[in-house]
Amino acid sequence: MANSVSIRDLSLSFGAVTVLKDLNLDIHDGEFLVLLGSSGCGKSTLLNCIAGLLEPTEGQIYIKDRNVTWEEPKDRGIGMVFQSYALYPQMTVEKNLSFGLQVAKMPKPDIDKRVARASEILQIGPLLKRKPAELSGGQRQRVAIGRALVRDVDVFLFDEPLSNLDAKLRSELRVEIKRLHQQLKNTMIYVTHDQIEALTLADRIAIMKSGVIQQLDDPIVIYNRPKNLFVAGFIGSPSMNFLRGEISEVDGRPVFTTHGVNFSLAGYQASEPLSAGRKVVLGARPEHIAIDSDVMGGEAHEAVVDIEEPMGADNLLWLKHAGHLMSVRIGGARRYAPGSRVRMAFDMSMASLFDAETEDRI
Ligand SMILES: Nc1ncnc2c1ncn2[C@@H]1O[C@H](COP(=O)(O)OP(=O)(O)O)[C@@H](O)[C@H]1O
Ligand SMILES: [Mg+2]
Repeated sequence: MANSVSIRDLSLSFGAVTVLKDLNLDIHDGEFLVLLGSSGCGKSTLLNCIAGLLEPTEGQIYIKDRNVTWEEPKDRGIGMVFQSYALYPQMTVEKNLSFGLQVAKMPKPDIDKRVARASEILQIGPLLKRKPAELSGGQRQRVAIGRALVRDVDVFLFDEPLSNLDAKLRSELRVEIKRLHQQLKNTMIYVTHDQIEALTLADRIAIMKSGVIQQLDDPIVIYNRPKNLFVAGFIGSPSMNFLRGEISEVDGRPVFTTHGVNFSLAGYQASEPLSAGRKVVLGARPEHIAIDSDVMGGEAHEAVVDIEEPMGADNLLWLKHAGHLMSVRIGGARRYAPGSRVRMAFDMSMASLFDAETEDRI
């Protein structure tokens, strides 16, 4: 597959503080890539390097196989959309869209055509004569996207574009951005700290911690087969349940032991032999723990319901078992009073095992 953007051994330091270190990343042509991580992990810094707003300390950046490391932002074929919209307040929407093209000395009929197309795609036609102050947050962000759209760029860069919007608008505009990508098929690089945006929008997610990409994969792979404890804990709400314990051997088979209780590991596909005595962390998502009638034969353990959190479609139970408190997701119609005893079992085929020391997936 052709690469649209390639980042080679990129490092960036602000004085003595290294924000990015030897970072490598290939983004495919037409791909929607999400950079996901908590605040301060270096997402904007990386995006700003791609945009040309920051100079890397070391390394190269290629866009469409052209080394753009030292090119001006305007020559890179990128369009950027910021969280803060960055619209010109004194200009109308129409002027905000056309201004950059006028500066680039594009003929007026061409400018008009591009503005018309962008305003049609983003449905902002009725707003063209207004100024930013007369727009809602969602409308302002549409105009900011429109400004990237009229430039007919190869690559769109989004830096937390929905973070300033309220929850309802955020989910609406999220769908529109996804539709925009399906329609335009441009390469899009999208920075967010919001795991839902990452899971719903991305073709691939690059999940970052302290300037280092922890895993680059399809969202479903990141969700189901996290490479390490950090990725496992970052994605998923409520968080994956983590049980500290160790591998023991029962009847020649490895089992997971925690607080003196054994759990069969049958069904778990380990990438290396599970030797007895190894300290591990077992991870199980709330929807991968079965209770009562959902337990499919095999081994079941007795647990006690501590609290339930009904959420309409789902019901979240907090179970006490073997010194752990675990969340279990069940259907909203199934209710349990606190103190109820239930049978529970892990779906080991969907579980994750991590080495307690390296924190890497086993
Ligand atoms: N101009 C700067 N000078 C010094 N440190 C900076 C500067 N810009 C960002 N940083 C630091 O770099 C780190 C990464 O910042 P940033 O890329 O903005 O994170 P993110 O976008 O993931 O929240 C943070 O610790 C931040 O404080
Ligand atoms: Mg940022």
